[in-house]
Amino acid sequence: MVTPARKSNSPDNDRPMTDSAPFGYETVPLAEKQGRVDGIFHSVARRYDLMNDLMSGGLHRVWKGAMVNALNPPKRGRPWRLVDVAGGTGDIAMRVAERSHGHADIVVADINASMLEVGRARAEKGGFVNILFREANAESLPFEDASFDACSIAFGIRNVPRIEAALADAYRVLKRGGHFVCLEFSQVDTPMLDRIYEAFSFRVIPALGRAVAGDEDSYRYLVESIRTFPNQERFADMLRAAGFGRVSYRNLSGGVAALHSGWKL
Ligand SMILES: C[S@@+](CC[C@H](N)C(=O)[O-])C[C@H]1O[C@@H](n2cnc3c(N)ncnc32)[C@H](O)[C@@H]1O
Repeated sequence: MVTPARKSNSPDNDRPMTDSAPFGYETVPLAEKQGRVDGIFHSVARRYDLMNDLMSGGLHRVWKGAMVNALNPPKRGRPWRLVDVAGGTGDIAMRVAERSHGHADIVVADINASMLEVGRARAEKGGFVNILFREANAESLPFEDASFDACSIAFGIRNVPRIEAALADAYRVLKRGGHFVCLEFSQVDTPMLDRIYEAFSFRVIPALGRAVAGDEDSYRYLVESIRTFPNQERFADMLRAAGFGRVSYRNLSGGVAALHSGWKL
């Protein structure tokens, strides 16, 4: 999938902190955004994992694999704790658990009870005993300061109304030397691909949403929300502003997604 190129100085990318927030292409009062996002994920929870495969042609698995590589969870040694923020149905958590051969101690923190319910059932079925599912807001995580070795967030940050607050809290819960890794849709850097993706996104994805999940509007929001999220450079700046050091990012599939990394030094 390809995200249409946006100029780094577009209004969306330079959006100042205000009491409004983008909700897809709409601008809504900040206080309203979370409720509307919650409605989307309550609606799509049951079909969420299937739709991920259909919408990305399975590519999300490759991107999530890259994220697990970046997290590099140990298989033995001292305890290693991960909080997967906006972890939804537990996809990242289960991959990390497998990679660490069950050594990692993982908390999936998500605001949406429907997504967590699907995740709990998946984890139980798969025999994942080291994954705890916890209802929590990324903007004010219910965890102690410096209590995790790593913090991940995959395709979640663009849905959070106050992104700066979520980054500040990710920083707070990490130990010194802790690793923050964020996977998110981003800005395509390959000119031809953007047109194909534009057509795919706005014609195919909402239609798939209607056919498979009976919900066209939620999938239209998902596509639109990608367009209003800060581009790679702008988001890297937000990580630096939150206090992270050695900030870097890597484009995946020509910038359709980007993997951001920062450290609490
Ligand atoms: C696109 S899903 C990503 C799920 C999972 N990380 C994955 O990659 O499959 C976005 C998730 O963000 C969660 N979310 C949205 N706002 C949140 C918030 N303020 N705090 C925590 N989770 C939030 C939603 O409930 C949803 O589960």
